[in-house]
Amino acid sequence: MNPFDADLKHLCPTSRHPIGLRIIRAEGSYLYTEDGCAYLDFISGIGVANIGHTHPAVVAAIRAQAAAYLHVMVYGEYLQAPQIRLAARLTALLPRPLSVVYFTNSGAEANEGALKVAKKFTGRSRLVGFHGGFHGDTHGACSVTGRDLYRKPFAPLLPQVTFLPFDDVTQLRRIDDRVAAVIVEPIQGEGGIRVPSDRFLPALRARCSEVGALLIFDEVQTGIGRTGKYFAMEHSRVVPDIVTLAKALGGGMPLGAFVGRRNIMKTLSRDPPLSHVTTFGGHPVCCAAALAGLDVLEKEDLPARAAKMGAQLASDLRALAAKFRSIVDVRGMGMMLGLEMSSAAKTARLVRRARALGLILGWTLHSDRTIRISPPLTLSDAERAQGISIIRAALDEG
Ligand SMILES: Cc1ncc(COP(=O)(O)O)c(C=O)c1O
Repeated sequence: MNPFDADLKHLCPTSRHPIGLRIIRAEGSYLYTEDGCAYLDFISGIGVANIGHTHPAVVAAIRAQAAAYLHVMVYGEYLQAPQIRLAARLTALLPRPLSVVYFTNSGAEANEGALKVAKKFTGRSRLVGFHGGFHGDTHGACSVTGRDLYRKPFAPLLPQVTFLPFDDVTQLRRIDDRVAAVIVEPIQGEGGIRVPSDRFLPALRARCSEVGALLIFDEVQTGIGRTGKYFAMEHSRVVPDIVTLAKALGGGMPLGAFVGRRNIMKTLSRDPPLSHVTTFGGHPVCCAAALAGLDVLEKEDLPARAAKMGAQLASDLRALAAKFRSIVDVRGMGMMLGLEMSSAAKTARLVRRARALGLILGWTLHSDRTIRISPPLTLSDAERAQGISIIRAALDEG
């Protein structure tokens, strides 16, 4: 029996109207479905396929590591070459103080770990997040996610969390010496692709240093080349105390990490030891996949490509904005772009019509008027032109 025809009642739904594409293959910038259609993926499903889908180098690395060993022990006990190599590779790409890596399975878990180590290191309990921020759906990550709608159904969450307006320097004095950590996305993703003013992140860094609060950059979505640099922090030159990564890190496999200063990270090994462990975090197959993915990123100079291709895409989108009044703004950095529409209804219509024409788009979780444009960084000129022409055709329909 065709598995797609099976009764889906045993799969937990996450929305009332899932997209429901029947995927049989994915390669490069395209998804292929059972009915023979090819879909150009302009969201990289979501923010993961930075080097394109099913990259052959990643697949080969997975095969080789799977043939050697799969899982062998909870994270941190045995020495496993893929973890050691990946930690060295990642820390070489990051600013020097960020020199110790803890691997997780996902972005939410990376943020959980970062928040916990910050509380343990500082001995403080208060946390600060920003309106419009998104950090994942576990209890801790959800507690610092800046939208009531998604927090309320799960209350009570962590106590002593304060939310400040994103990109408002005047409010930063509300961070005081009772705060363990401030968590922020250097560019808000789910908040609607919001790039802060040049002053914001340096001012935030200064205030955190002043009061002894740790600064956590959530680069789960902005990292691994997406914004035109390996990490978005490079644009502002602000170095956080801890950075969290996931999504594109694993080259398509589930892998996250929090990376911090040595003196901070060390606190996880004592008082008591084993106070933060994970069975599968840093799975050797995922670390091998990540290493292969970083090779591709480096060899093909994909962060630079993202800067160049992103500028071209932004200019194409601005040309559309000049023609169609339903587009009210085009913003973003590198290949992390947002197209703000005049209404949620117009957004939903454009996404639906584009899909019918073979292009995958989607809106951001906290902003139903912002369409994210985040294709694989390997996007070719022909694929860019195809995507833009589908958006134009979908808008032409009114
Ligand atoms: C900025 C940010 N942080 C954290 C997460 C959560 O990551 P995960 O879904 O891997 O738990 C996401 C997911 O969209 C994200 O965009």
